[in-house]
Amino acid sequence: MYFAGIDLGTSSVKLLLMKEDGTIVKTVSKEYPLSFPKPGWSEQNPYDWYEQSVAGLKELMEGIEPSELKGISFGGQMHGLVVLDENDEVIRPAILWNDGRTEEECQYLNETIGKDKISSYTANIAFAGFTAPKLLWMKKNEPDLFAKIKKIMLPKDYLMYRMTGVHATDVSDASGMLLFDVKNRSWSKEMCELCGVQEWQLAKIYESYEKVGTVTKEFAALTGISEETIVAAGAGDNAAAAVGTGTVGDGMCNISLGTSGTIFISSKTFGVDAENALHSFAHADGTYHLMGCMLSAASCNKWWMDEILETKDYAGEQTGIQELGENHVYFLPYLMGERSPHNNPKARGTFIGMTMDTSRTDMTQAILEGVAFALRDSLEVARKQGIKISRTKICGGGAKSPLWCKMIANIMNLKVDLIKSEEGPSLGGAMLAAVAYGAYKDVEEAAAKIVEVVETIEPTPALVEKYEKRYQTFKAIYPQCKPIYDMI
Ligand code: XUL
Repeated sequence: MYFAGIDLGTSSVKLLLMKEDGTIVKTVSKEYPLSFPKPGWSEQNPYDWYEQSVAGLKELMEGIEPSELKGISFGGQMHGLVVLDENDEVIRPAILWNDGRTEEECQYLNETIGKDKISSYTANIAFAGFTAPKLLWMKKNEPDLFAKIKKIMLPKDYLMYRMTGVHATDVSDASGMLLFDVKNRSWSKEMCELCGVQEWQLAKIYESYEKVGTVTKEFAALTGISEETIVAAGAGDNAAAAVGTGTVGDGMCNISLGTSGTIFISSKTFGVDAENALHSFAHADGTYHLMGCMLSAASCNKWWMDEILETKDYAGEQTGIQELGENHVYFLPYLMGERSPHNNPKARGTFIGMTMDTSRTDMTQAILEGVAFALRDSLEVARKQGIKISRTKICGGGAKSPLWCKMIANIMNLKVDLIKSEEGPSLGGAMLAAVAYGAYKDVEEAAAKIVEVVETIEPTPALVEKYEKRYQTFKAIYPQCKPIYDMI
């Protein structure tokens, strides 16, 4: 018996095939383009997601008896706006989670309507990447297209719709739309009204581990899987990654080092931080979580390697990094503006502190450290709320670098638990499918039986102290640069 997890990411779709006991049998990844039509804008074509997912699923299933695939579910890039017309055609390219065009709309929601009100409706305030401000942007800037909208959905929900014919979403992903009453796990009538959205345009809500339906006849024929295969609602990629790393139940932490960087704290009870600096979302295990999200994490390193150093040897560039805690070069990783905790789409990537002896290795090191410092900014918000975190799991492409994991352990003063598979969202997706099928009683049981910690990186006091000083310097740079970002 097998289950498949589909992680609809920003740079690629990652598919994973798991046996019911959690053994990973196979993974497949298919890339698609990402376009930046204007500085700070970020879009993708939903048809690309679908085509590459179909191709990926076919490849994943090669040599597998179709009737053995019992269930499929998802992790998906969050917040993206996908809009369909009366013929179910995509009206415009999807506007993604890291798109910064909605500054005015966020100002309207946070200032004119007021953060308190928005937070009382949704448990969150407006951030540029969230879905509701994008709808307001469309309403103002593309009124003809806005008038054609018959269905509003999130990226992975578009895939689920094409697979099952059901317009569905799950509580964790819906939380990031700013149209969702997180505490009560239902659509917010007030927010729908504010954004000119009708509830019938939105998806039916499911818990992440619930069955939405089975695949359609057409989809089964197209991919060669069985019509009996069930599809579970799945989760936003961070909640799915949390499931895949066993970050379920109360007070557990996961760091994801993907295109974005997130720190995810699970909680059995609903809560909101005083400043709304962290997102307060529903979790895929039926509970809640807090999350800080930086918009560019492993993507900063990718940009530095691919675009600037023009190399593919990521590991090679890190071998020269010897002295941790000594670097006098700093990097502010705001290449797409920043979400948590600054909420500033105008922030920009910034190197500071170079001297004539600065080497490319120092600058590479500054990038890795800058991402860890910025993640610590969100951890500090949680710590200020009295939340005690002493260890974390880690996943995402960046987690493949032992050096980066060591920096994170020491900069954040956390024990970092490395797990057998850093697949995160795709594994979490497969686990949610297994729960929906009934192979496990609930998500906690699946996590307890499947997720395995293989190594722990402990912070060392001397290095923690060195990095503490450097973190204080890092923290002092942003407020000084902020007025300059406004000028740029
Ligand atoms: C979370 C967020 C990102 C995307 C990346 O709030 O915006 O982590 O989900 O795929």
